[in-house]
Amino acid sequence: MPLPKAELHLHVEGTLEPELAFALAARNGVELPYADTEELRKAYAFDDLQSFLNLYYELMAVLRTEQDFEDLADAYLERAAAQGVRHAEIFFDPQAHLARGVAMGTVVEGLWRALGRSEEKHGVSTRLIMCFLRDESADSALETLEAAKPYLDRIVGVGLDSAEVGHPPAEFRAVYEAAAALGLRRVAHAGEEGPPEYITEALDVLGVERVDHGLRCMEDPALVERLVRERVPLTLCPLSNVRLRAVDTLADHPLAAMLDAGLLCTVNSDDPAYFGGYAGDNFHAVRDALGLSEEHMRRLARNSFAASFLEDDEERRAR
Ligand code: ADE
Ligand code: ZN
Repeated sequence: MPLPKAELHLHVEGTLEPELAFALAARNGVELPYADTEELRKAYAFDDLQSFLNLYYELMAVLRTEQDFEDLADAYLERAAAQGVRHAEIFFDPQAHLARGVAMGTVVEGLWRALGRSEEKHGVSTRLIMCFLRDESADSALETLEAAKPYLDRIVGVGLDSAEVGHPPAEFRAVYEAAAALGLRRVAHAGEEGPPEYITEALDVLGVERVDHGLRCMEDPALVERLVRERVPLTLCPLSNVRLRAVDTLADHPLAAMLDAGLLCTVNSDDPAYFGGYAGDNFHAVRDALGLSEEHMRRLARNSFAASFLEDDEERRAR
């Protein structure tokens, strides 16, 4: 019986397994530049975040209809449930779809067809978080928020993702202010490849409640102290960090040191189809590589619910 847990850092487009990518390509008449799933898997050798993002955006070409987004999310929820995930807060990247002529409604309604019956079908409650691409302009982010207005009953919050270095959080102040005024929760990727200052900016300028990754906070002891004091949750993604070379090996991952420092760490899968594992796989991998105790594992699971956007009564039911 896997440990019940919440997944708080998961890009739904990053759950596109090679088999589903080829099935959707065939259904939609999209030609992929790979002969088969085996050849595609061989392309999953990344040097850094950008080399992954190139493939991640390329494969999205197969996602065209509501049915595609439903099938994608449903396949993820089934796998997540099998690994003990009871609650999932799921990112999506609307700009990557709008740029290909796929409407916001197609994406949100398609995802919702899976999310709306996930509790009943998979025993997994869900929330949807819309991310802005930080390597697109601040105006584009504002336009994206505008396009999402008819669907805000389906969306709990906003996030910030894609290529980090050279795209500091402060550029997105206006769209985060607008999102807050609409009652949306706020998170942002910071300190994955970018410097600790980006984490501080995400907190001070964007008003985020949770930091996605936050790995590089460990370079700044004053920032660590602040994150501990303010109980800011960090959504760490250990297998992702190895595959994108943020750390050399899992044994070098600072998770154990971060827990010892008192940080509110959670363990998540990021883009599991690309990085070799879903939430439970990440839990097992860090336990084995870092020698974490059962008490550490229970703390990580508790943290995942505490850091979620579930209400207290929902949280108790999900645990
Ligand atoms: N988009 C999908 N996965 C991402 C990651 N790990 N960092 C930034 N943007 C992403
Ligand atoms: Zn991410």
